[in-house]
Amino acid sequence: MCGIVAYIGTRPARPLLIEGLKRLEYRGYDSAGVAVLDPSTKPAKIQLAKAVGRVGNLEERLEGTTWQGTVGIAHTRWASHGGVTETNAHPHTDDHAGIALIHNGIIENYSVLRKYLEQKGHTFVSETDTEVLTMLIGELYDPANGVDLEAAVQGALREVTGAYAIAVICKQEPDVIVAARKGSPLIVGIGNGEYIVASDPQAIIAHTAQAMTLDDYNVVKITRDGFRTSTIDNVEVTPKVLELESELDEIDLGGYEHYMQKEIFEQPAALRNTLRGRLDMKDGRVVLGGVSAFAKDLVRARRFIMIAQGTALHAAMVAEYLFEELARMPTECEYASEFRYRNPIVDEGTVVVAVSQSGETADTLAALNEAQDRGALSLGVVNVVGSTIARETDAGVYLRVGPEIGVASTKAFTGQLAVLTMLSLFLARRKLMSPEAAAKLQDELADIPNKIEHALGLAPEIKQITERYIQHENWLFLGRGVNYPVALEGALKLKEISYIHAEGMPVAEMTHGPIALINDGMPVVFIANQGAQYDKVLNNIAEVRARGGHVIAVATEGDRHIRTMAEDVIYVPPCSEALSPMLTVVPLQLMAYYAAVARGHDVDKPRNLAKSVTIE
Ligand code: F6R
Repeated sequence: MCGIVAYIGTRPARPLLIEGLKRLEYRGYDSAGVAVLDPSTKPAKIQLAKAVGRVGNLEERLEGTTWQGTVGIAHTRWASHGGVTETNAHPHTDDHAGIALIHNGIIENYSVLRKYLEQKGHTFVSETDTEVLTMLIGELYDPANGVDLEAAVQGALREVTGAYAIAVICKQEPDVIVAARKGSPLIVGIGNGEYIVASDPQAIIAHTAQAMTLDDYNVVKITRDGFRTSTIDNVEVTPKVLELESELDEIDLGGYEHYMQKEIFEQPAALRNTLRGRLDMKDGRVVLGGVSAFAKDLVRARRFIMIAQGTALHAAMVAEYLFEELARMPTECEYASEFRYRNPIVDEGTVVVAVSQSGETADTLAALNEAQDRGALSLGVVNVVGSTIARETDAGVYLRVGPEIGVASTKAFTGQLAVLTMLSLFLARRKLMSPEAAAKLQDELADIPNKIEHALGLAPEIKQITERYIQHENWLFLGRGVNYPVALEGALKLKEISYIHAEGMPVAEMTHGPIALINDGMPVVFIANQGAQYDKVLNNIAEVRARGGHVIAVATEGDRHIRTMAEDVIYVPPCSEALSPMLTVVPLQLMAYYAAVARGHDVDKPRNLAKSVTIE
């Protein structure tokens, strides 16, 4: 989704801002822009450039120009209000005060504000809600009467509803950046005599590991000498300072062609990190420092509700089976976007678990807040340290899989599965599971990274199988039990990066309608590993074959029989059914990856998609 970078310091701002934008490219965007204050004139001059398409296009636009200045803002835009045009790209400027602004989020009451500002004589050039906010700040800016940039930003934000992360500069105050947030991520990297404001730590970590986070409705005024943090009502607040954890080499491609490929192959190492220090074999107890203070509340809880979107929801759906099966804990799982608007029944005794890679997904955050307001204890299962969901939940467990750059989530999914499996064991062992049974499952869990490594060894074979079917525009993915959500995940992966239409569903559901779709050669991927319902899956495979469908089965190593049933078989190592999703998903991730590459798509930046969805 949109990306923000702003810089104030002593180094030339422009190259630094462009480099920052490149680090945010993975989030998805359709245009980019940069503005730097040239302090050689008084008032300073706003140097501004925008381009549709890649940051590379913006760089071309800047070729041959030399900009002065050590204060600036830059943005990658993902269109919401108004089409993908240069005029709609950020930064936006106002029409008299010399304000330039970048914005992530949506100003919901922008049309009322726009009318008000038009009546005051302002003329708009773009279709965006962002230009309205820029103009409103300009309208309020009145330094002669004590309304400086900080006060004008505070005043404007008191008038808006919606979500925002903004960074603002003004030619009359060339040594200041004002930034603010509500409902959209924003952090401020603290360097030596310099500050980098960004919507994502990736734009900061090359320069400093120290950063401050802002809470909703916080505004920060930054100069080279320091900063002042306040609320939009100008009450001073003390920001939280944290150490950013990411290592730069974790976000380099390291010999792989795409981030998605790297992240798929990184899964064994990532999961070893997720599990490290959390499995106590002796006693069969999982050690989860982030939730241990709430152990009693969790064990006594009457039910769990998992909220998430997309891939994270699929992980939560697997957890629904595990919490009920292993811990006998009533558990429901729901799209956060639906939960937040349907007057849900939540009471004391309900634990809500927000599952999110980014920790910033707008719907998940809003659903979490809704559940909290209704008295639920809240847990976060989040990857990005210090993200909003991580901060706003009562307790939680980090995934520790490292930064996920590829838009299609892979290692975060297996990380979510590992954490949610540990959470279910945490409860199960305290409620009903014997130390021996718990230790046995933990043992197996500890071995999952090795088994994923083994499954990854089949990548060349999976590539060949996939390439045989990429001309088909419709695929089905079918699974049962804990592997039903894996079927959904396989379909989602394939459609989001290869643009092939794919549907995932429970195996038995196929006969209730979708079987009509099956025609000659249609690829149907069955997750047919050994498990409680293996025989039933074989029956459904036979039904698909009888109708000309082409069956690709993900099966358990050693299962020879399946070869007589399916045209193609991809084997994964044997393991307990409860843990199998961490293995069965790997071939599906690889199939999606190889299909997208073979079809010539930009795997890491699929069309219309953003890494973190911070709007509804
Ligand atoms: C798909 C994908 C998305 C995300 C979803 C939630 O590959 O990445 O479906 O899973 O947007 O994002 P997070 O986990 O950041 O809340």
